[in-house]
Amino acid sequence: MAVRAAEAAVTKYIVKTDFITLGIETSCDDTALALMRGEREIIGDVVSSQITDHAPFGGVVPELASRKHQEVLIPLLSALMSSSGVRPGDIDLIAVTSGPGLMGSLLVGVMAAKALSQGWNVPLIGVNHLEGHLFAGIVANPSLRPPFLCLIVSGGHTEIVLAKDFGDYLLLGETRDDAAGEAYDKAAKLLGMPYPGGPVIERAALGGDPNAYRFPVALKSSQIVEFSFSGVKTSLRTTIQKLKNLCADDSELPIADICASYQRAITETLLVKTELAAKITGVRRITISGGVAANTALRDELAAAGEKKGWEVFLPPRSYCTDNAVMIASAGYSSYMRGSRSDLSLTPNPSWSIWKGRPARTT
Ligand code: KG4
Ligand code: ZN
Repeated sequence: MAVRAAEAAVTKYIVKTDFITLGIETSCDDTALALMRGEREIIGDVVSSQITDHAPFGGVVPELASRKHQEVLIPLLSALMSSSGVRPGDIDLIAVTSGPGLMGSLLVGVMAAKALSQGWNVPLIGVNHLEGHLFAGIVANPSLRPPFLCLIVSGGHTEIVLAKDFGDYLLLGETRDDAAGEAYDKAAKLLGMPYPGGPVIERAALGGDPNAYRFPVALKSSQIVEFSFSGVKTSLRTTIQKLKNLCADDSELPIADICASYQRAITETLLVKTELAAKITGVRRITISGGVAANTALRDELAAAGEKKGWEVFLPPRSYCTDNAVMIASAGYSSYMRGSRSDLSLTPNPSWSIWKGRPARTT
């Protein structure tokens, strides 16, 4: 099935510049809140990361995550509101992530949002976390409007989505196995490095030779938009084992070369399929989101590919690539202005998908 960009007129909604949205994000291990005016003006935002709580376990522990959200959500909200000078009566909408994500974590945000909505008598809207990621680029770039492609790369997702219009999203392809962020996290574990692996491997790769080891770029020549990261991880394990057998001591391992080569393989895997998605759809406006979108090698390579291919590449600031509530407030605002509504029956949906269609391939 060949997928073509939507040619229909893109939805325009009236942007109310005095409309204040409170965004709440608790889908995984970041407790985030934001106050936004209209679609893009940030009044204040805050993210409380749980990285140090989960690091000893090498990944996110769901029970711990929900307990931490409960502890910090209300104190964070009080601090945000007093520092921004916003009172409950100023807020026009509460936008909360209601899926996908960890059930216990989502519940904390949704229950808090419902209580605030009822107590303050303010409308409520449930936001899809991945639609939120699409809005990271929109908040940062006023000229980013559908149709555009978004590469969502995080610890739980590796997807390329065609945003045909606001609220009309086609999944072009996704990972068959691990997500790109997971591939970084597992590599860090293999190398005895802390969680989360992405930023640690990125730092360790500095000064390393990206061509020192040839880690596989999975599905490179297939004409299907899909990813796989299990092979590169296995190849890393084998390489480390071989090198360890040659070294007298683990401290002699060429860490910088290993990390730079591994990062190159992941980056190339993501780039190859982004290029394929652009070729299939003919869409030349491209953005990225999710924790891995903070990776400098990926950002530089995408920008360079954009120059070469004549794409418009939109790179959100790194702080809006990782989980945050600014993108949730903006997506909730957009959805509300297009007529969507939630009420107090809003329930978290850990596997909520809003993508239409099947992964695309060239004919
Ligand atoms: O979007 P995110 O903050 O949380 C979710 O997974 O939803 O993404 C976290 C993931 C982790 O797997 C982490 O290793 C990866 O993003 N990550 C990075 C970088 N920063 C975070 N991967 C590569 N390079 C980075 N600079
Ligand atoms: Zn996310």
